[in-house]
Amino acid sequence: MTSMLDRESIIQETANFVRKEQEGESSGHDWWHTYRVWKLAEQISKSESADSFIVQLAALLHDIADHKFNNGDLKAGRSIITDHLSTLGINQDSIEFINDIVENISFKGANVEESALSIEGKIVQDADRLDAIGAVGIARAFAYGGFSNRVIYNPDIKPEIHSDFQSYRSNTAPSINHFYEKLLLLKDRMHTTSAKKIAEERHRFMEQYLNQFFNEWEGN
Ligand code: ADP
Ligand code: NI
Repeated sequence: MTSMLDRESIIQETANFVRKEQEGESSGHDWWHTYRVWKLAEQISKSESADSFIVQLAALLHDIADHKFNNGDLKAGRSIITDHLSTLGINQDSIEFINDIVENISFKGANVEESALSIEGKIVQDADRLDAIGAVGIARAFAYGGFSNRVIYNPDIKPEIHSDFQSYRSNTAPSINHFYEKLLLLKDRMHTTSAKKIAEERHRFMEQYLNQFFNEWEGN
């Protein structure tokens, strides 16, 4: 039996570990993204019958592989997570469960089929996606755009609906296109009731922002 205190300190140790790894990252996967996803996921799990311990560990570790290995080497991510959690004495089944969540929550293109997820996975995916929309999501999209040398907007380049992960990942379109290729689609892909509610408001804010953006573009 693990006591509450043990679980608390395992979560705290994991937060310290991830913070050290992700501090100062500038592609949109910095520690504070992870922190927000962790807090949101913890909040959402209160209204669901889900294992909050698993939810919190998966939320904390969800971008550790992205950060370390830009090409998204899943095996490398799996071993970082496995090594870390084994050191803390987490059982193999829970480690497998957390790795499966981390590997299956990513957005892979508007028309790419999504993986089936456990309730814990759904909560982490909802939290990660909520942080991609709204005011913070807008900031992250342009931060990522700058990081990957994208222009803000070019009206000659139209948004695309990607049907495979490779073309979604390798596209070099302006940052504004990302709103149509991913961000505005997320609201309708939320799983939990509480995330759906938060998403509505963040979605409206992005629509307002885009309206203002296109008005200013034409000098209005
Ligand atoms: P995560 O899986 O953590 O949601 P991603 O790795 O897909 O995030 O992207 C990190 C951040 O960068 C997200 O906020 C995402 O919306 C943004 N982003 C990803 N691709 C693009 C893009 N092509 N243009 C602008 N922003 C992007
Ligand atoms: Ni993330």
